[in-house]
Amino acid sequence: MSKGIGLDKGIVVAIDGPSGAGKSTVARLLAERLGYLYIDTGAMFRTVALAVKQANISPEDEQALAAVCRELEIAFERRDGAYRVLANGKDVSEAIRTPEISLLTSRISTKKAVRDVLLHEQRRMGQDGNVVLEGRDIGSVVFPDAEVKFFLSASPEERGKRRFLELQAKGEKVTLEQTIAEVAARDAQDEQREHAPLRRANDAYLVDSDGISVDEVLGRMEKIVRDCEAEQTTS
Ligand code: DC
Repeated sequence: MSKGIGLDKGIVVAIDGPSGAGKSTVARLLAERLGYLYIDTGAMFRTVALAVKQANISPEDEQALAAVCRELEIAFERRDGAYRVLANGKDVSEAIRTPEISLLTSRISTKKAVRDVLLHEQRRMGQDGNVVLEGRDIGSVVFPDAEVKFFLSASPEERGKRRFLELQAKGEKVTLEQTIAEVAARDAQDEQREHAPLRRANDAYLVDSDGISVDEVLGRMEKIVRDCEAEQTTS
């Protein structure tokens, strides 16, 4: 794909897929290899969910949700090699990863009031290109003209197992069955919601990570982006 006339904007890489498909790891490492900015849009929805919980408002109250979003400034920062998420300057990186916040995030991310604010914010953050954005609707809604789109997937059992090991490592008291069920419940909510449901963009590369190492997945994806970069410089 060639660049638009007069635009020297960098490449936008969109990575979508269901929870637990390994998107975060792959997106972060791919951005590092490419020297691109990394934006975890799931973390943005999670930060809104945390603010909703702290404000003690109903996740069904669209007006209150909009007000919470308006007062919330989300930023990403790289500190000592790790990505930190800041909500109005406060580090919420760990607080947004609990199972309770995961479920609340899935609920508030169905709301138009929340999606509209974050859509605007995500477009602003990615407007200069040279960026990897990961989420559910990046290639289909946020950046439908992204130069490279990936849809990363894996079976629900595999994804549940990965999430279980992650939570266990953090000392969370969860069972494998419970985690697989939560992954399935979130899939259903993400796929069935009215606004920006999880779906693969027609022009997205499908990457199935079942039984493939992270390194191999990364290698395949990096090659595709590098080819696109090469095409852009020659066109
Ligand atoms: O990727 P994640 O598990 O951190 O995402 C958390 C929740 O946010 C998940 O339920 C889906 C939702 N989400 C979304 O609706 N749209 C995005 N672009 C990113 C995440």
